[in-house]
Amino acid sequence: MEIPDLRKEQQQTLDTPRLHYSLLARMLFFGMDIFYGRKRTLSKFKVLEVIARVPYQAWEHVAYIAMTHKYGEPDFARRIFDFVTEARQQQDNEQWHLLILEEMIDQQGLKEGFFRYRLLPQIIAFFYYHVSWALYVVRPSLSYRLNVYFEDHAEHEYMEFVRDNPDLEQIPFKSIFEKDYGAFANQADVFRRIGLDEREHKRESLARIDQPRFN
Ligand SMILES: [Fe+2]
Ligand SMILES: [Fe+2]
Repeated sequence: MEIPDLRKEQQQTLDTPRLHYSLLARMLFFGMDIFYGRKRTLSKFKVLEVIARVPYQAWEHVAYIAMTHKYGEPDFARRIFDFVTEARQQQDNEQWHLLILEEMIDQQGLKEGFFRYRLLPQIIAFFYYHVSWALYVVRPSLSYRLNVYFEDHAEHEYMEFVRDNPDLEQIPFKSIFEKDYGAFANQADVFRRIGLDEREHKRESLARIDQPRFN
């Protein structure tokens, strides 16, 4: 696999305007700003990652239900299986983001209140899961589009976080997840890589918008 020039990728995001978000997406981001502040912090990113995984879980769930009904049609079942595999990979990728952030928060000894950082993210994720699920059942493109906005927002947030915190360039990245997620010279590069992942998630959802279910 080609190794990306992470600085160039960051610049590309910064040079690209954000998408025009839907009302639902804007409500979500606005709600997050109210509860977690507008400032980009590790703790706020962690909440973002708790929520980021759930559309993939919702799609996987719907796909398994379809598989149960249609396993008698091998071609269809095959496509569903490939669909599930992609959703799983994205979910795992978001999971590494979450674990890496949790580890950094722990290393820095940051204090997080139980309600705002444990309970509330679970509640938001619960609702977001059901919204993603219901939209997918009604029309998959609606669910993908919401995720496109979510991922576009995340991509910009991470790249702007690196831009606004130049000291990250000097902080080495030490992690028990290096073997899984990759080794990086410093924390700035880790966040650039995470931002780039979010862009790839966005592209994958965009590519699915005009396709029928599980294609
Ligand atoms: Fe993520
Ligand atoms: Fe993502």
